[in-house]
Amino acid sequence: MVYPDPEALSHGVAERIVNLAGDAIDARGRFTIALSGGDTPRPLYRLLASATFAPRIDWEHVEVFFGDERFVPPDDDRSNYRLAMEELLAHVPLPEGRIHRVHGEEDDPEDAADDYEEDLADVFDLEPPGDEPAIENPRFDVILLGMGENGHTASLFPHTGAVFEDVRWVAAYDVEEVGMWRVTMTPTALNAAANVIFHIAGRSKAPMLRRVLHDDYDPDELPSQVVRPTDGRLTWMVDEAAAAALP
Ligand code: 6PG
Repeated sequence: MVYPDPEALSHGVAERIVNLAGDAIDARGRFTIALSGGDTPRPLYRLLASATFAPRIDWEHVEVFFGDERFVPPDDDRSNYRLAMEELLAHVPLPEGRIHRVHGEEDDPEDAADDYEEDLADVFDLEPPGDEPAIENPRFDVILLGMGENGHTASLFPHTGAVFEDVRWVAAYDVEEVGMWRVTMTPTALNAAANVIFHIAGRSKAPMLRRVLHDDYDPDELPSQVVRPTDGRLTWMVDEAAAAALP
């Protein structure tokens, strides 16, 4: 779906999230969503917190996770959790304990990834993967993703091996390209979702969006290509600037 500008795009994504939340809560009594980070979702989160949209989501029945996190304390201005709190989560009536963040203040990023995987297992009432794949993977109602100019999504960066992780739900990587540890949901977790929404805006993303959508499958080079929900819907929601290089 292509929208004329970032504003219209944010409205489109917000509408889709409101509708999917209503469907999930009607069907199963709750709505599970994994939020993305970076700059693109800021206006979306602000919109979801606004009087136009916030009342349309039954926050009482929502569970919030993050598709990835920078391994920094929660009050760090690079924190995806902090971004979501400031623009959305602090302004809506989510019950205590419904915001599940990566503990970036811990000493060890790999312990933080293990803990986050346990948190996922608890909320979805599943056995986490060990050395073997889990019997059942957590099926988010919505996973919101962005895409970097280098084709990364969540914190699955090119040439880190992250796109080949096919057992864990959450993993930690020391990402040289950004000079920090990242904790991220893996393709196993992302592709178990019922709905994955790529939210992409801006001309700077146009060349990479064309490559991700039209180049041969090569997720080590183009990590966003690894997102192919096993039994779910993948929706690309972009503005005209990001779509400018598409045939
Ligand atoms: C992060 C995000 C990341 C983001 C892309 C796009 O932690 O940075 O989860 O995957 O979606 O980097 O970021 P922008 O929206 O800032 O371009």
